[in-house]
Amino acid sequence: MVIIEKAPAKINLGLDIAGKCSDGYHKLSMVMVSIDLNDYVTVEACSEDVIKIVSDNNMMPLNKRNDVYKAAYLIKERYSIRSGVSIFLEKRIPVCAGLGGGSSDAAATIRALNKLWQLEMSQEEMIEIGFTIGSDVPYCLKAGCSLISGKGEQVECLNAKVSSWVVLVKPDFGISTRTVFQEIDCDTISRVNIEALKDAILADDYESMIAHMGNSLEDVTIARKPFIRKIKDRMVKCGADVALMTGSGPTVFALCKTEKKADRIVNSMKGFCKEVYKVRIL
Ligand code: C5P
Repeated sequence: MVIIEKAPAKINLGLDIAGKCSDGYHKLSMVMVSIDLNDYVTVEACSEDVIKIVSDNNMMPLNKRNDVYKAAYLIKERYSIRSGVSIFLEKRIPVCAGLGGGSSDAAATIRALNKLWQLEMSQEEMIEIGFTIGSDVPYCLKAGCSLISGKGEQVECLNAKVSSWVVLVKPDFGISTRTVFQEIDCDTISRVNIEALKDAILADDYESMIAHMGNSLEDVTIARKPFIRKIKDRMVKCGADVALMTGSGPTVFALCKTEKKADRIVNSMKGFCKEVYKVRIL
């Protein structure tokens, strides 16, 4: 049996840091949406009792440093699975970009193995396993338009659809999420009103949604990588309704209502950065 799972990327329409927990992690409040930029995870039973990973991206670690491997290993141990699995990871989402690629791959692996090994795991169980791999994995197991809180483990699906074109620009450097979080000063960080953002989305009020979007991590990442500010400014100049960094960066996205506008932004950004994508919110 071969199982193929789609792993969509995410963007943060809002990311607020509400404080620091005693374990050094941060209390988050976020609104995330999935976009139609996907990795694919294919799993197949293998006769040897091993976890074998192959990828079309030769930058991917194919060992326990890969979140896909961690997902397979954790499930195999938990359910004492004695057979092996071969996993093919097709990468389309830029890595270390703030687009949740690694987390989405892990979530897709959990879903795929649940089917391959007929485990009948509940969503809560999958989320519990996912959260031990990374803070964004619980969201990726639910996907769609969601409100995320706690350290990332609490995910509430918002019964709403955000309809917009998205232009993504990924600069040619990555950024470590850990480094960005380490530099946060919770007393001075700029805050985002996630409750107001949620209300705007639920009311299908595009203008209000745009007005309340924000990312508390932006200032921290921009202080290290000022080029992100240049991308944002250029996007707004080209007609973007809003331009915002996603996650801990460095990818910046622009939202706009018409494809024509999105095309104009794409054309302008292509002379500026190599990796430019035009996608839709799912
Ligand atoms: O969970 P994940 O591996 O994605 O987190 C990466 C880093 O982000 C952590 O090492 C931690 O420094 C930071 N983080 C945090 N608070 C959270 C989630 C992540 O400080 N709620």
